[in-house]
Amino acid sequence: MKNPQLNKHGELQHLLSTEGLPVCIMRDILDRAATFLDEADGREFKKVPLLHGKSVFNVFFENSTRTRTTFEIAAKKLSADVVNLNIGQSSTSKGETLLDTVDNLCAMHADMFVVRHSSSGAAHLIARHVAPDIHVINAGDGRHAHPTQALLDMYTIRHYKKEFHNLRVAIVGDILHSRVARSQIHALTTLGVPEVRVIAPKTLLPSHVDKLGVQVYHDMTEGLKDVDVVMTLRLQNERMQGALLPSAQEFFKYYGLTQERLALAKPDAIVMHPGPMNRGVEIDSAVADGPQAVILPQVTFGIAVRMAVMSTLAGNNQ
Ligand code: CP
Repeated sequence: MKNPQLNKHGELQHLLSTEGLPVCIMRDILDRAATFLDEADGREFKKVPLLHGKSVFNVFFENSTRTRTTFEIAAKKLSADVVNLNIGQSSTSKGETLLDTVDNLCAMHADMFVVRHSSSGAAHLIARHVAPDIHVINAGDGRHAHPTQALLDMYTIRHYKKEFHNLRVAIVGDILHSRVARSQIHALTTLGVPEVRVIAPKTLLPSHVDKLGVQVYHDMTEGLKDVDVVMTLRLQNERMQGALLPSAQEFFKYYGLTQERLALAKPDAIVMHPGPMNRGVEIDSAVADGPQAVILPQVTFGIAVRMAVMSTLAGNNQ
């Protein structure tokens, strides 16, 4: 079956998921991201004309702080014109369908859509619908995928750990409802991480999660032992149906990342979180603000990775 993310030359046409994304494309994006960021300084991004004359439309049907803002910064650093559609004030509230909205934005000469939607598959639907010279980036769809988050997480891991082939990585928390976890697992296994662990109560794990190539733990003491990277996740309450946990306090008691638990990981382990964080639920403030946390650098690296994704797509017109 044709990979919906690739054009007829096998190049990236849309970024919809890390599942099925060829390892060479993943590595190219990480390498390209590094060219946009002055690693010595870690803050400066070069402004380049790679998207000059192109229009990037940020179409977010769900709230966002990090993804939407860093896409906007990244597009502007690439010299694109950026349009942020305010869905709350759009005609979606008057009953306009998603594809009718997209058609109208295409009529305004959109070249690239960055889409976040509560429905899994929304970005795929748009990618199938638009003309071949238009690119779609999935900025998070339901509980399905959040590929740029996973790629910026891979960039962060590579920045601090240099290689993937010798790592033990633990993903902790609400795996069941997390598009980030799904995208991280596909990216980590594609890039050759030999041991990916998930740590969660049974009620917050997808059935058959082991089929994704991960080791399953229900106990933090066992799961965190000797890991190089700890990736924490919040409870995705907005996607939960029914009570899957007694309480947030109970979750913290058994699955909260505290300094005592982090001490079970390797001494140089890094702590990551895609945000937004819920302090005192999945992570203790002492860890979130501690020396092993790389949570804010993740956000900064996200700008470079999103520049890399958009400039790669813009160079691949069929
Ligand atoms: N990580 C992430 O997707 O954060 P936002 O919801 O703030 O974009």
